[in-house]
Amino acid sequence: ASSVQPVCKPSAYSAFDDDYADEDWDNLGFGVTPTDYMYTMKCSKDENFQQGLLTRYGNIELSPSAGVLNYGQAVFEGTKAWRKEDGRLLLFRPDQNAIRMQIGAERMCMPSPSIEQFVGAVKQTALANKRWVPPPGKGSLYIRPILMGSGPILGLASAPEYTLLVYASPVRNYFKEGSAPLNLHIDKDLVRATPGGAGGVKSITNYAPVLQALSRAKNRGYSDVLYLDSVNKKNVEEVSSCNIFIVKGNVISTPATNGTILPGVTRKSLIEIAGDHGYKVEERIIPVDELIDADEVFCTGTAVGVAPVQTITYNNRRIEYITGAQSVCQELYLTLVGIQTGLIEDTKSWTIEI
Ligand code: COI
Repeated sequence: ASSVQPVCKPSAYSAFDDDYADEDWDNLGFGVTPTDYMYTMKCSKDENFQQGLLTRYGNIELSPSAGVLNYGQAVFEGTKAWRKEDGRLLLFRPDQNAIRMQIGAERMCMPSPSIEQFVGAVKQTALANKRWVPPPGKGSLYIRPILMGSGPILGLASAPEYTLLVYASPVRNYFKEGSAPLNLHIDKDLVRATPGGAGGVKSITNYAPVLQALSRAKNRGYSDVLYLDSVNKKNVEEVSSCNIFIVKGNVISTPATNGTILPGVTRKSLIEIAGDHGYKVEERIIPVDELIDADEVFCTGTAVGVAPVQTITYNNRRIEYITGAQSVCQELYLTLVGIQTGLIEDTKSWTIEI
């Protein structure tokens, strides 16, 4: 799908190039900053992906009849590169994103890169854009791999050609609130995912349909929307761009990944960290009524990180939660980000130094 020419072999980049890009590192939000390079790898239907290429970051060329444009045949991932104090870069569990992409690709009838190919593509994109990885404490480089049906197709069917495209952008806080706690609104009309649908994979088709609820909530001053299950509208599912956890005493609960919940890499990591910290973690159905008695609520996601929730509004009732330095959310967040940035020893081998 890309008409750009290769500019170098992927291995030509060194991890020891210490220049920083000309960026306002103190004021990063979560937006698109055009960086230097992107990575492209292609294959035909029924074939395996071959060696990819780094090219200059830029627009790509697609057939008007590309599967992704006409029928939304695509999945994407989000992962981050963090800069350690010594200048080296750390990737966080990119193999988990690779596995999730493979599962999503199967659901969307697409071939997928191997774990090694996916992780290699992420590594090369991070290294090629190293000068865009924010200084320690200022954010991270968000890496966005997209797997799409790039070949032309008119009748509804799988595309004849596929492209893995990986690009990156320096980011910090996802929400405009910065690191301040979120105010969520429960939407009783619009749902995010239905049983048998694609809500449990990172299909691009899961995201545009929530924009209406999201913009309605934002117009009313909320940070984001918390969706309920589509069948009974009684159980908590997830937020537009992240998973949700509730804390009651020593128990931390999150909706089980039953097909309508995205199996977040941050979600999975937080569950393990919470267990290590002595909390009882439950993955289960969470009735919306449990929100009334919860001590804390927080959201997790690669883009969002670990975000505390101040209030949830449901049926015109505003429920308040504990937030701040002494919260469980903050305790778990500090451990996660400590591992991601190399400040806490990574005993689980979650990070890859590049
Ligand atoms: C991520 O957390 O990486 C995502 O892909 C969510 C997206 C809506 C920003």
